[in-house]
Amino acid sequence: MSKGPVRTAIFPVAGLGTRFLPATKATPKELLPVLDTPLIQFAIDEARDAGVERMVFVSHPSKSAIERYVMDDAELRATLRDRGKAKLARDLHKAAIDEDDHEVTFVMQHDPLGLGHAVLCARDAVLPGPVAVILPDDLIVGQKGCLSEMIAAYQDIAAGHLVATINVPRQEVSKYGILSVVGQTGPFTKADGMVEKPDPKDTPSTTAVVGRYVLDPCIFDALARQTPGAGGEVQLTDAIAKDILTTGLAGFQFSGQRFDCGTKQGMLSAMLHLARHDPAFDDVLGVFLNQNPTPNAA
Ligand code: UTP
Repeated sequence: MSKGPVRTAIFPVAGLGTRFLPATKATPKELLPVLDTPLIQFAIDEARDAGVERMVFVSHPSKSAIERYVMDDAELRATLRDRGKAKLARDLHKAAIDEDDHEVTFVMQHDPLGLGHAVLCARDAVLPGPVAVILPDDLIVGQKGCLSEMIAAYQDIAAGHLVATINVPRQEVSKYGILSVVGQTGPFTKADGMVEKPDPKDTPSTTAVVGRYVLDPCIFDALARQTPGAGGEVQLTDAIAKDILTTGLAGFQFSGQRFDCGTKQGMLSAMLHLARHDPAFDDVLGVFLNQNPTPNAA
């Protein structure tokens, strides 16, 4: 049965980013750069590559820099061209969202009441049909865009909700939403439940949900009924779990590599990963590694 195309990507970007304070006091976490590219740019590129028509940003009034970043700035481009930097002007134009190609909407989440609440804020701004949700602080790099892979896979499965998954060490399950696994076929995990941040000793599995979702539109009704869960926040995972019997849930192991750029360690790993694949950084990485051999190395 066709589920209809995924026409909308929702970008929840209204969080406080406390783990990156003081950097996030004045700069939104989603604009922190991995080398020279802000996290939000990777997310926009992934959504564009996946062919969505509309991008909905759920933001906060204090984070207006995100809107300035994602939209085209013709004045800045003109200044750059006047100063002989035409290529830079073209690159900026390419990176920004072109409103001739994509509809863009900003909705405000005035209180950061949780990811589930942020997605609910997008309800009146989405196009009919299933929706994609992208968390920009989960950076996923690889040959294929994670969202493209998921949207292609979504049409072939019975479940109405599809979530990106990774396998994590048992001691780390309390940082994630965790699937209750009933079967595995290729990259798909069939689940009959999901719990947010379980204790490692009670965890139903080590299959963890990361920041890409393709969701049946019934998620909005489930979210509207959802009461606050772990951390006093309205959790997206709780609303997905609520629908499991009627809507169905599958996990999807994407082919790319994921970095949790909401943490300093994940951000540093992402930077090192990108730098390692760019010859421009060979010297600096080589010097650093030579001067700082691994502790306890023979
Ligand atoms: P996180 O769970 O990483 O929360 O949000 P956070 O507030 O950004 O960061 P910490 O935990 O305080 O360091 C994942 C994504 O969901 C958005 C965030 O902006 C981020 O892109 N989010 C989170 C919202 O839009 N609203 C919320 O209420 C919570």
